[in-house]
Formats: sequence, C-alpha cells, structure tokens
Amino acid sequence: MKGIILAGGHGTRLAPLTKIINKHLLPVGPYPMIYWSIQKLKEAGIIDILIVTNPKELDNFIILLGSGEEYGVKLTYKVQKEANGIADGVYLAKDFVKKEKFIVLLGDNIYKDSLKPYIQSFKYQKDGAKVLLKEVPDPHRYGIATLNKLTKIITSIDEKPLSPVTNYCVIGVYMYDKKVFDYIEKIVPSKRGELEITDVNNMYIEKNKLTYDFLRHWWIDAGTYEALFKANSLVYQDIKKERARITND
Ligand code: DAU
Repeated sequence: MKGIILAGGHGTRLAPLTKIINKHLLPVGPYPMIYWSIQKLKEAGIIDILIVTNPKELDNFIILLGSGEEYGVKLTYKVQKEANGIADGVYLAKDFVKKEKFIVLLGDNIYKDSLKPYIQSFKYQKDGAKVLLKEVPDPHRYGIATLNKLTKIITSIDEKPLSPVTNYCVIGVYMYDKKVFDYIEKIVPSKRGELEITDVNNMYIEKNKLTYDFLRHWWIDAGTYEALFKANSLVYQDIKKERARITND
C-alpha cells in the first residue's frame, strides 16, 4: 500500500508564522510536524509516500526531507496549486497510487496510536473506505460522524456542524480504494469554496462502503496555537516515558 501526506492548505489559524513557513514544518517535539506522519507510515510498513504541498513551500520540504532515504522511506512530491480542499489534494495522488488501495494522512494530525492494526484490517476489507474516529470535547471544529444506535454503522458525517449530534470526530487518517477518484470528480466546492473530504466519505456511506475504528490513545489536530502547544507537551511526555522505560529495562 502507498501513503499520501497532505501538507498544503492555508494554515491561517497559525498566522502570522505561516506567512513565512508552512504549518507542517513547525516543531512538534524535537522534529518538524511532518516527521510524525512519515514515522506513522513507516512504522506501519508503508514507505512509498507522496507529499502534497503548496508551490511556494515545496523547496523547503525537499531541503528537509529530500528523497526520504535518510528516514528510510521513498518520497515523491506533488504541488497543489491552490488550497482547494482536502479532496482536491487527494485527487493529485491518482497517478501515484494507480489502482491500489491507499492511505491519506492530514499532516497536521498528531497521535499516539500505531496505524498498523487499522491498515491491516483495511487490507482485509474487500473494497470501499475506512476512517478512524475519536471522541472530542469540541465537535463543531471537525467532521462529525453519526452512528446508527443499533447497528453502529456510520449513517452520515457533518463537516463542522453548528449543532453536533455526537462528538465522534473523523480524524485525518483516511483509507480508500480507487473509487475515491470517481467520487471526487462528482463533488462540488462547499460554502467555504473547498472540495470537502467529508462529501467524498458520505458518498461511500451511501454505498454502504465506509467502515471505521476508534482510535485508542490521544489525538490532536495541531492546526491552532493552543493545539500545537498541546501536541508538543504530549509528544514530550511520551518521549520522557519512553526514556524512563529504556533506563529501567
Ligand atoms: O483534523 C481532522 C479534520 O480535518 C476533520 O475532522 C475534518 O473533517 C477535515 O475537513 C479537516 O478539517 P480542518 O478544518 O482541520 O482542515 P484543514 O483545512 O486544517 O486541513 C487539514 C490538513 O490538510 C492540513 O494538514 C493541511 C491539508 N490541506 C488542506 C487543504 C484545505 C491540504 O494539503 N490542501 C488543502 O487544500
């Protein structure tokens, strides 16, 4: 399976810093944010990775990550000319993934869970898509899933709902089959002018082809200053715990 990391977008909630530096190059723990997505894919055995970013910032990613060899992965880069939405970014991966199933990570999502078991279960899934959910205290900020009370199947996803029905956030880890490109071709820009990944996921729901799992450990969308600070403290806490574990072994 191949991996896509989306590292474009406006990063407006992290202005003014993002006027001069891409959000995904800001530090989370002792590394630039994008490092964590690369690590998650590598840990799950995915080393063929496409990074999608803005024209203005491509050079910085290449200076930092190059071919990926230093990190034990193989990197390809693609430019998203305008930040036209997550689904628009995913569409740029069409030639890269060809007909294979693949995984998409939003580069500003930071979490503790390994992706291995989720990817494994998607590999067994015949077709369709899979998303990961996490309960959150501020559901109006995210794509929010509603589950059928009896069957627990996802019945819909609302993007940034004004009156959220649940607090099940659809996090920025999406697994798709090749149908995703047909669905992206069918959607139209939302009120905020973006091709929404939530619209694509709702098309999978209509076909009864969207499965999900719950993430077990902490998760953060590091797209605001407060969340970036929190991501840093959680990452450092885990680093400290890991150092203590190694010393005690
Ligand atoms: O973090 C999870 C949430 O991410 C989901 O619950 C929402 O359903 C999903 O729409 C998304 O919401 P955000 O408002 O947080 O998306 P944002 O615009 O911050 O972009 C998320 C990532 O995707 C970020 O790493 C930048 C990248 N991106 C975004 C856009 C709009 C691109 O690479 N290109 C784009 O055009």
